[in-house]
Amino acid sequence: MTRIALYPGSFDPLTNGHLDIISRACRLADRLVIAVGAHHEKSAFLSAEKRKALIAAEIANIADNIDVAVFDGLVVDAARDLGASLLVRGLRNGSDFDYEMQMAGMNQAMAPDVETVFLAAAPSINYLSSSLVRQIAAMGGDISSFVPAQIAEAVRDRIGRAG
Ligand code: COA
Repeated sequence: MTRIALYPGSFDPLTNGHLDIISRACRLADRLVIAVGAHHEKSAFLSAEKRKALIAAEIANIADNIDVAVFDGLVVDAARDLGASLLVRGLRNGSDFDYEMQMAGMNQAMAPDVETVFLAAAPSINYLSSSLVRQIAAMGGDISSFVPAQIAEAVRDRIGRAG
């Protein structure tokens, strides 16, 4: 049986922290699908399709068992639609843990057949967050050590267009 893992998130934008989780999670399953949430599309910084295209370019450099998709319903429904039996989430700190435990519990209650797996974020980059990357870029700071080069460019473009 093919084991499929789903890594859901906003990825607005994808950071080096997400890439760390992706490069490790793809070894846990036959196929890893990165699921970009399009729920808050109106307030999104980058559109879901743009986030998907940026992620597609990055995962091509990591492994050939990784795909990316956009979803806008429940995570557990996306998992079922894709035939995923694992849900992957990264944990950076205690606040993530509290929030993630609650989500894992709700998801388990709704879909007992889908198992949540937590990966500990690499200690060297466990301070990264997408909103801080956006904030630093908006204030003219250098984000090149937090996100891949093409993503830094897309973030700067987006800020340039808004300004
Ligand atoms: N490296 C870097 N950043 C990380 C990270 C890592 N390893 N792990 C988490 N983050 C950060 C993100 O950058 C983001 O930062 P920000 O808040 O500063 O922008 C933050 O953690 C949370 O991001 P994300 O992992 O994308 O989760 P989310 O809570 O925004 O969204 C969804 C997760 C998309 C799955 C969820 O919100 C959703 O929409 N679910 C669908 C509805 C549903 O099923 N609801 C029921 C759930 S019980």
